[in-house]
Amino acid sequence: MIGKVISINGTPNTSEFWFVVTGRVLKDEFVSVDVEGGKLLGRVDEIASGNDYFSVPETIKEFSPEEFFPTDEWEFSVAKVVPLVVMPSKKRLLYPVHPGDKVYKASEEDVRAFYSFDERGLFLGSMRNGIDVRVNLTKLFQKHLAILAMSGAGKSYLTSVIIEELLKREPSRSLAIILADVHGEYVQFYEDKKFRDRAELFPVDEIKIATSNLSSSWPIFKSLTAKQKMVLDSALRELRADKKAFSIDDLMEHLSAVNEKTRDPIISVLRSLKSMNIFGVYDNPSINKICKQGQLSIIDFSKTTSQRVRQIVLYYFGHLLFSRRIEGIVPPFVLIVEEAHNFAPQNVEVERSLSRGIIEKIAREGRKFGASLVMISQRPVHLSTTALSQCGTKIILRVTNPYDIDNIKKSSEGLDVSVLSRIPSLSVGEAIMIGEATGYPLVFNVRKKEVMDSKRSFDLEKLAEEYAKEQKRNDDDLNAFM
Ligand SMILES: Nc1ncnc2c1ncn2[C@@H]1O[C@H](COP(=O)(O)OP(=O)(O)OP(=O)(O)O)[C@@H](O)[C@H]1O
Ligand SMILES: [Mg+2]
Repeated sequence: MIGKVISINGTPNTSEFWFVVTGRVLKDEFVSVDVEGGKLLGRVDEIASGNDYFSVPETIKEFSPEEFFPTDEWEFSVAKVVPLVVMPSKKRLLYPVHPGDKVYKASEEDVRAFYSFDERGLFLGSMRNGIDVRVNLTKLFQKHLAILAMSGAGKSYLTSVIIEELLKREPSRSLAIILADVHGEYVQFYEDKKFRDRAELFPVDEIKIATSNLSSSWPIFKSLTAKQKMVLDSALRELRADKKAFSIDDLMEHLSAVNEKTRDPIISVLRSLKSMNIFGVYDNPSINKICKQGQLSIIDFSKTTSQRVRQIVLYYFGHLLFSRRIEGIVPPFVLIVEEAHNFAPQNVEVERSLSRGIIEKIAREGRKFGASLVMISQRPVHLSTTALSQCGTKIILRVTNPYDIDNIKKSSEGLDVSVLSRIPSLSVGEAIMIGEATGYPLVFNVRKKEVMDSKRSFDLEKLAEEYAKEQKRNDDDLNAFM
């Protein structure tokens, strides 16, 4: 027992009660009180200390009470509790607890049941009271997940932990993981002995989209007129009928018979596509290679700075994944998108957000088909609200920008002020999970990751040294020539 319910300021009532603390208790800890139908679970929302010896300023100013009285003995603490639910039914409290009721520390079992933790779930970290956070896979992913925080708060670190958990499962109980890695931050999965056999790396300069799969409905052709689109589609049709595979050059050549006025705008778009170096004769990788149960496929975008290239690649593979999943040809998958605000930006015309459509489509329709999305962003304000509002679970790490906090609040039902106010003071690796996965906001510390650190260094001094070394090598090469 850690205390007894007291009767002050209109409490206990159904939304609040106070107890005088006789044991050890900390803010945010869970407590329980026996009630009709089971045990009421509550969260300690505030703790206050009092001591009547020190309650009158004039007296304290005149003399020091502690010199004359055993003041220590008069010190007491009271704690405010917000009732949550009655266990095991998880029903709301409809009648208040009684003054004099005994207050206990909540049992681990009740806390785990309250958050619907799953013994076989994904082990993401631990709560302050030491309870492991194990989240059910379906609850975490089915209605999509958003990981939101400011730069450096630990989003990619947490994402690595989530990936580890998926890779450690039996492939038959896991998903295919496809990761859009903008900075090459996840390459370590491919380099680390422990995970290498379950990770595949697809550097952007080796990725190719089969030209035969182009169609005028792609947003890259939005500038073309209806007639030009028709001409393009019939050229594609003819070539497909003609031979199995062809290149952009073949397509341009095939169009040479068309009159200039219609042809030139098409050729101009095709030329710009060609210059991106991502169109070929065949798809590389094939969809079966990129979408395998229990395998992490890293699409490494670090070798391109072109937002357009990244968006087209994600547009293409996103569509392919989704349609093949609907057909049941590929396994259930989770598509993890780093810097999601760059792939699905809000308030940006379609030419500059080619991949937004497919991300929003998976967000809206994916759950019925086992097509899940994890969106990671340090600027949720710029992230498609359609996509973000479909995320059933959000994990929020430290955010200090008031606009971003406000945005998170607007897109998250049931996020009360007491939780919201904690977001700016979270430390690195400390997270709040809200939504489907746990049902009630859960504060936890992300566990240590197992995968080794990336060999790629983002340390400024090291980058400077590497640059100098590279320059010297170039100079030496040049001197050898002369
Ligand atoms: N749970 C954690 N435990 C220990 N170290 C952590 C934890 N989370 C993050 N870090 C460390 O904090 C630093 C920043 O983490 P991380 O790269 O994951 O941030 P981020 O939110 O992805 O930032 P950015 O928006 O810049 O990509 C890293 O050096 C990482 O090792
Ligand atoms: Mg990151």
